[in-house]
Amino acid sequence: MAILRCIECEEEYPLEKIRYRCECGALLEVVHDLAGLEVSRELFDSRLGSLKWPYISGVWRYKELIMPDIPNSQIVSRPEGNTNLYCSARISKYVNHDNLCLKHEGENPTGSFKDRGMTGGMTAAKMLGAKVVACASTGNTSASMAAYAAMAGMRAVVFIPEGKIAFGKLAQAIAYGARVIQIEGDFDDAMALVQEASVELGMYLLNSINPFRIEGQKAIGIEALQQMGWEAPDWFVLPGGNLGNSTALGKALMELNELGLIDKIPKIAVIQAEGANPFYEYFQSGFKGFHSMKADTLATAIKIGNPVSWRKLEAVMKWCKGTVDQVSEQEIVDAKAIVDGSGIGAEPASCATVAGVKKLVEKGIIQEDESVLGILTGNLLKDPDIVINYHQGKLAGLKSSYANKPVHIKPTLEEVRKVL
Ligand SMILES: Cc1ncc(COP(=O)(O)O)c(C=O)c1O
Ligand SMILES: [Zn+2]
Repeated sequence: MAILRCIECEEEYPLEKIRYRCECGALLEVVHDLAGLEVSRELFDSRLGSLKWPYISGVWRYKELIMPDIPNSQIVSRPEGNTNLYCSARISKYVNHDNLCLKHEGENPTGSFKDRGMTGGMTAAKMLGAKVVACASTGNTSASMAAYAAMAGMRAVVFIPEGKIAFGKLAQAIAYGARVIQIEGDFDDAMALVQEASVELGMYLLNSINPFRIEGQKAIGIEALQQMGWEAPDWFVLPGGNLGNSTALGKALMELNELGLIDKIPKIAVIQAEGANPFYEYFQSGFKGFHSMKADTLATAIKIGNPVSWRKLEAVMKWCKGTVDQVSEQEIVDAKAIVDGSGIGAEPASCATVAGVKKLVEKGIIQEDESVLGILTGNLLKDPDIVINYHQGKLAGLKSSYANKPVHIKPTLEEVRKVL
């Protein structure tokens, strides 16, 4: 049987009661009885391509590692996952590294990696009898939660920073029928408020502070490893905001390692935006004194100054001997132009991954013979404004180094000839 355990004082709690934090205030995590689980590469491979519910999902294919005791009838799934790996000559040239593949989590049902954690969290919400679910969001969590709540017949309430989330994401939350509450403040204000409001008003909280979100999110790493024939890459590289995704990836790798399903421990590189880099600063200090900050970056998905999972991620980073780096706004938008122009496409925060790989290769931290699996976290269409503004040279203070500006012409063949 799995239990909830405090990451600081190790106090244990049953899974069946709603609880997000320990009495001591620290976060909780799900601890599985790994020795009691019957799992193998063969079991998971036998479900590949299965049309059988729920194994068709790229999360529930690994059910034993996510929520082993949940009856299949309780699972709320779109289904999610089954996202592709891409290797691109153009991107490899840009980052100066051949052995690079990108896993596109923008191919999830609502267009971001959040659907993996959300199927875990929403399944827990159903198990616990929740009627109303809530989250604070930079956009993708609210889009995902709104869709899953609608499917499960629950009310969704989302708290978003006013005027600071990408249009595609806001549109999704509204369209899927969530109650959208715009907060006069930033994501960190919204996060603080929703934690209080969910306890006081009896809403089930579905931010990544929720340990079942982390369990579902683990499948990002498990699926990637299965796609690589269970041969672990030397590096996983992904963006860091609230730090739930990187924490979940690390937890997956720890468990797979303990179960003997992988032969080596990959290093994780977490990439933050320069203007939203509290975990980078913490890493630089040798993990002495974590300080939150006022965040600012055009990659709004990772505009987070007080990430909830910093403590969990610290343990992961020490375990995998990974690294944390930061990238500038210019590096993010230029990497995005290359990712988009390669035909793959992703939203700005995702492209911190590619900018980060480039930087780590330049620094010699990622070495020439090492294999890299980068994660693209969200779909290109989540944030169309940035695309249009970049290519028209309208991003204040930034160069449009790879602009592809639309042209206006009179409707004559001669004019078309001139343009071509
Ligand atoms: C597209 C995208 N990338 C990256 C992140 C950061 O993930 P995390 O908050 O788990 O660190 C988010 C979070 O909202 C996101 O939406
Ligand atoms: Zn505790």
